[in-house]
Amino acid sequence: MKKRILIVGASGQIGTELTAFLRNKFGKNKVVASDIKEGNEDLMKAGPFEILDATDCDAVEDIVIRYEITEVYLMAAMLSATAEKFPMKAWDLNMNSLFNVLNLARDKKIDKIFWPSSIAVFGPTTVKTDTPQRTIMEPSTVYGISKQTGERWCEYYANKYGVDVRSIRYPGLISYKTLPGGGTTDYAIDIYHKALKHNSYTCFLNAQTTLPMMFMDDAIRATFGIMETKKEHIKNRSSYNLAGMSFNPEEIAASIKKHLPDFKIGYKEDFRQEIADSWPQSIDDGDARNDWGWKHLISLDEMTEIMITNLRKQ
Ligand code: SER
Repeated sequence: MKKRILIVGASGQIGTELTAFLRNKFGKNKVVASDIKEGNEDLMKAGPFEILDATDCDAVEDIVIRYEITEVYLMAAMLSATAEKFPMKAWDLNMNSLFNVLNLARDKKIDKIFWPSSIAVFGPTTVKTDTPQRTIMEPSTVYGISKQTGERWCEYYANKYGVDVRSIRYPGLISYKTLPGGGTTDYAIDIYHKALKHNSYTCFLNAQTTLPMMFMDDAIRATFGIMETKKEHIKNRSSYNLAGMSFNPEEIAASIKKHLPDFKIGYKEDFRQEIADSWPQSIDDGDARNDWGWKHLISLDEMTEIMITNLRKQ
């Protein structure tokens, strides 16, 4: 098998686990990790690692040629909360990194791309529950605008140039191995850390803010699933809706209380409340289930159990 993978943004929350997963599947030398910053020790030691600025098109191409890369997973992005603070920087990173890999695929230098989109492509005018695959999309955040634009470009490159690009709209992702950076859904990770440390948590979203979420293992399986599916099954070249669970801060707190009965949650909304209010509460992912057999496994209580058990060990 000639497959050789480059992961861009490998030191981040998703990249770290995706790199380990793919190295385990295909062998450590088949998976080159890259990021603008160094990652954790496991990631750096377990296979090739390169410092890479995803917006530098020559540098990306150089690594692709040098390692004879066939597939790129582009995980580098500025997330919703940080992007509101640095709009132009977010646009530059989120869009130019995508063009760099789309152009390499157009020029037949790579065969396949994975690029993540997000529930942030939806906006305040989108139907909030069981949000369909195709619906009104008027995102009101910089991050959402960049992801929606990216989806349009992915589909354009697929139609015009035959680029094999695959994408899913991740919900909020929860994991214990690497901390997230700058997202609105990050509270659902922080809450576990604070519960174990202080037995209390002050949430920046209000109690009733229901958002679509997913445990990282499910997200990695989805990512691998869509990439390994036969090309003809991928009928959507913008991005697939993907769902795991939906919950609000009160419900995750109740789940934590089953393990830590004295745990207390308080609320102090900040600017992220408005971002969260613009997003759907639940997602209809029927197309992903039909086209490439997606199925989520992990529920809120199962996730809480995994998070608490593993964070305790750390
Ligand atoms: N988890 C992301 C964020 O909160 C949404 O894709 O920004």
